[in-house]
Amino acid sequence: MAGPKIIVGVTGGIACYKAVSLVSALKQKNFEAQVVMTENATRLVAPVTFRAVSGQPVCAEQFASGGDPVPHIGLVERAALYVVAPATANTIAKLAGGLADNILTASFLAARCPKIIVPAMNTAMWENSLTQENISRLKKHGCLAVEPDAGYLACGVFGAGRYPATSKILQEIENALGKTRPLSGKKIVITGGGTREPLDPVRVITNVSSGKMGAALRDAAEKAGAEVVYIDAGAENARSLKKRIAAEFDGADALIMAAAVSDYKPASVRTDKIKSGADKLTIELARTEDLLKYFAGKKKKQYIVGFALESLNLLKNASAKLRSKNLDLVVANDISALNSDTAQITLLAKDGRAETFDRLSKPKAAEKIIERVCRDIG
Ligand code: CTP
Repeated sequence: MAGPKIIVGVTGGIACYKAVSLVSALKQKNFEAQVVMTENATRLVAPVTFRAVSGQPVCAEQFASGGDPVPHIGLVERAALYVVAPATANTIAKLAGGLADNILTASFLAARCPKIIVPAMNTAMWENSLTQENISRLKKHGCLAVEPDAGYLACGVFGAGRYPATSKILQEIENALGKTRPLSGKKIVITGGGTREPLDPVRVITNVSSGKMGAALRDAAEKAGAEVVYIDAGAENARSLKKRIAAEFDGADALIMAAAVSDYKPASVRTDKIKSGADKLTIELARTEDLLKYFAGKKKKQYIVGFALESLNLLKNASAKLRSKNLDLVVANDISALNSDTAQITLLAKDGRAETFDRLSKPKAAEKIIERVCRDIG
C-alpha cells in the first residue's frame, strides 16, 4: 500500500537536479511522490527523469490538451504535504503574492495541506530584503521554510542559498507530517454498513444502514495518518465479519464498529429457495454473536469504539452499552441519523466524560470521533 501523497514542486533553479534524489528518497520511504514542474525546470531536467524516479507522470502543463481540464485541483485533493524544492526567488515571490500562473503556483494555492518551501538561489538574491519579506509572508500564512545551507554555489561564490541535504528536507517533511498526522503509525480497523444474513440462496435479512458513517470514519482516520483497514459489512454476515475483524485485530490499535450488525439471523439457512405457495411463512430467528462484546473481551492494547443507535433514552442506553460491552468510547447516535447525511452525536467515554455536538454532516461528525480517538491513543 502506498503511503501519504507528497507533491514535489520543482522550479527552474540550477539545484533542480538534486530534487531527483529527494523524490527517490520519498519513494524509498514508501511515500507516493507526485512531481509538478515549472516550464523553466523542464529545461534543466527532463520530466522523464522525474517520471522514472517517481513512477508517476509529471505535471508540467497547466492546460494540457485532453486529460483533466483543471489538473491543479485534482492534483492536490489527496495531498498530505506540498514541498517546493528547489524554490527559486521568482516562484517564492509568486507564491507569496498568491499568483496562480502555472501548474505549480496554481496547485500550491489550491492545496490545503501543510506546505514546505526549500529556497535555493544565489546569495545576493536570497539575502535581498524582497526575498526575505516574501519568505516571512509565506510563513505568516502557515508555510514552513527550510533555511538554505551556506557553501559553494553554482554561480562561483561561497555564501547562503545552497540547496540543503536531502536528509534535512526529509526530516522537515516527516516532522510536519507527524504534527498534522497524529495517528501515523497506528492501525485502525473500521467496519461500516449493514450485514446481510442469508435466509435462502436468494434472500437475506439486512437493515437500512447506508454505510456513510463508516466511510466517513475511514476517510477521517486516513487523513489523520492511520493505516486503516476498512471492512464493508454489506458483503458479510455476523460470522464472516467476525473472521475478517479477527484477521486484523491482534495488530490493531483501535477497532471502530460503525457497522450495523444484525442482532438476529435465520435459525437455519435453507439450501433451496423458499417457494411462495403458503399463505403464511414463519421464520425462526436466532441471536447473532455480539462482535463488539467479543472483541472488547479480547482486547490488549486496542481502543474499542461502539455505536449506539437508539430511538428511546439515548444516553441512558448508550452508557449501559458502554459498561456492559466494556468499551472505551460509545458514539450515541439519534435514530434520525439513519439514512441521513447528518448525525447528532454524543461521545460517552469510559471515565464518564460526555461530549455532545450539534447536528453535523457525517464527514464532520466522523472528524470529531477521530479527533477523540487521536486524543486518547495518538
Ligand atoms: N454490534 C456487534 N455485534 C452485534 C450487534 C451489534 O458488534 N451482533 C455492535 C454494533 O456494531 C454497534 C453496537 O454493537 O457498534 C451497538 O449495536 P446495537 O444493535 O445498537 O446494540 P445492542 O447491544 O444490540 O442493543 P439493542 O439491540 O438493545 O439496542
